[in-house]
Amino acid sequence: MQAIVAVDKLWGIGKKNGLLFHLPEDLQYFKRITLGKVIVMGGNTLLSFPGSKPLPGRTNIVLSDVFTREDCKVLMTLPELLKELQNYSSDDIFIVGGAMFYRTMLPYCKKAYVTKVDADGGAEVFFENLDKMDNWKLVEEVGRTISNGYPLTFTIYENLNPKPIDG
Ligand SMILES: NC(=O)c1ccc[n+]([C@@H]2O[C@H](COP(=O)([O-])OP(=O)(O)OC[C@H]3O[C@@H](n4cnc5c(N)ncnc54)[C@H](OP(=O)(O)O)[C@@H]3O)[C@@H](O)[C@H]2O)c1
Repeated sequence: MQAIVAVDKLWGIGKKNGLLFHLPEDLQYFKRITLGKVIVMGGNTLLSFPGSKPLPGRTNIVLSDVFTREDCKVLMTLPELLKELQNYSSDDIFIVGGAMFYRTMLPYCKKAYVTKVDADGGAEVFFENLDKMDNWKLVEEVGRTISNGYPLTFTIYENLNPKPIDG
């Protein structure tokens, strides 16, 4: 299982239940990595998507105890969610946010795809600062680009001690 996230230079990820920046190159990168896979999210993140709809071409799974939906799988509790995730290959599962849900799921992730934006987006919600966590290690810088005027660095972190989802 892995997380995928775009952070600003303070590890901020969102404000007003939306993203901090419009970054077409990062959206393309996100799409390329997650297409055909299983994306798992908290309730607010589903609501933050265009039209509050699941993303096409991917199995969308949501943790929420306040809504039921026909267009994606909704699990009401974390134990139910973890049980559901055992039906998929761990390599195919991507945790896509948001702040609360990343915090809940990060211990189970063995990898994190982190797009770093060299700017301060004035965030209200944040990702964990992986550089300050003993068990997370920056292992790869995949590439750099400029998107909508913002410098981006695509990086990969690894969790040295991921927690198994089956127990
Ligand atoms: N930069 C990025 O890469 C990125 C990616 C994704 C999201 N975001 C941003 O993140 C923000 C949303 O984050 P958020 O923290 O407000 O919401 P969130 O993590 O998307 O969703 C939180 C909701 O998940 C449900 N939930 C139930 N049990 C939970 C548990 N044990 N742990 C965690 N969640 C649980 C609850 O929904 P119910 O109340 O429905 O039960 C809770 O209110 C937005 O600004 C969004 O744009 C940024």
